[in-house]
Amino acid sequence: MEKPNVVTCTAPVNIAVIKYWGKRNEELILPINSSLSVTLHQDQLKTTTTVATSRSFQEDRIWLNGKEEDITHPRLQSCLREIYTLARVFGVEGELSGIARQGSGSACRSMYGGFVQWIMGQKDDGKDSLAQQVEPETHWPELRILVLVVSAERKPVGSTSGMQTSVQTSCLLKHRAESVVPGRMREMIEAVRRKDFAAFAELTMKDSNQFHATCLDTYPPIFYLNRVSQQVISLVHRYNKHYGETRVAYTFDAGPNAVIFTLQQHVPEFVQVVRHFFPPETNGGQFIRGLPVSSVALSEELKQTIGLESTPKGISYIISTKAGPGPCVVEDQHLLGSDGLPKKTV
Ligand code: PMV
Repeated sequence: MEKPNVVTCTAPVNIAVIKYWGKRNEELILPINSSLSVTLHQDQLKTTTTVATSRSFQEDRIWLNGKEEDITHPRLQSCLREIYTLARVFGVEGELSGIARQGSGSACRSMYGGFVQWIMGQKDDGKDSLAQQVEPETHWPELRILVLVVSAERKPVGSTSGMQTSVQTSCLLKHRAESVVPGRMREMIEAVRRKDFAAFAELTMKDSNQFHATCLDTYPPIFYLNRVSQQVISLVHRYNKHYGETRVAYTFDAGPNAVIFTLQQHVPEFVQVVRHFFPPETNGGQFIRGLPVSSVALSEELKQTIGLESTPKGISYIISTKAGPGPCVVEDQHLLGSDGLPKKTV
């Protein structure tokens, strides 16, 4: 048997602050508007992928989280087709975000670290619909990200079918894509470049709210936010109001989990506020994971101005993280053995 060529790569998660919602071409995954995201640090969240190739292998196979999946899935085939093309020009680095886009649109932004825009492009063949780094992960070291994992009961509508229905039925989405996002992209890039937290935070919250408004404008409507998500929104606005400045921002994707942006100096107090209004299980797993957060006492005055009713166990845990780098090739974490089969079930 020919010794296989085995390569393992880790890739980050990204969170959009200007949201992508809606395709103009379903097959090529071309969006109706540009979007911008922050790449999260891989010390806290990442995916690991191993590819093994050998002339001795009889067929293409794929495993996701240890479970074999259908290799004939059209999106997977689109990516594999392009990657084989690349293999022929061995040693030449291609523009990879155009390939990642054809797997899942927003995934193309994970090809770079830091602050990344996905330029919608104009061409019918999608050749100009690519991701581009706006600023690297080292640009804004004080920026912190908290993922508030909300205990959800229901599986929400998936993004693919959700955005299809929105494109077909929501006139608010059309207005957003044509008349709102272009200006917001310019303002967001400026806010990131200037490290202007208040401007960044306000745009982030408004864009999340408008995305969820287009979901409500979809017919039949789609609801991604639940009661805990709404309480987090109120909590953030009341917290900012208490200090008379925008210290914290929220954003929500196609589900109820909140992603919070803030600056390093506000993390301990804000986390304590979340813990106070969403008391976790006393002997459950660790409530705060990732970057360490020191504990502080809250003033009675702050608790009173926020004044939310307490929702025990509404938030399962918090992942504390920051902006991080793009994909990395790793030498020692191969998931496939020399026979091309998974080493162990994950
Ligand atoms: O790329 P998809 O199909 O996972 O869609 C992502 C949609 C949002 O997460 C809601 C917004 C975004 O830009 O990431």
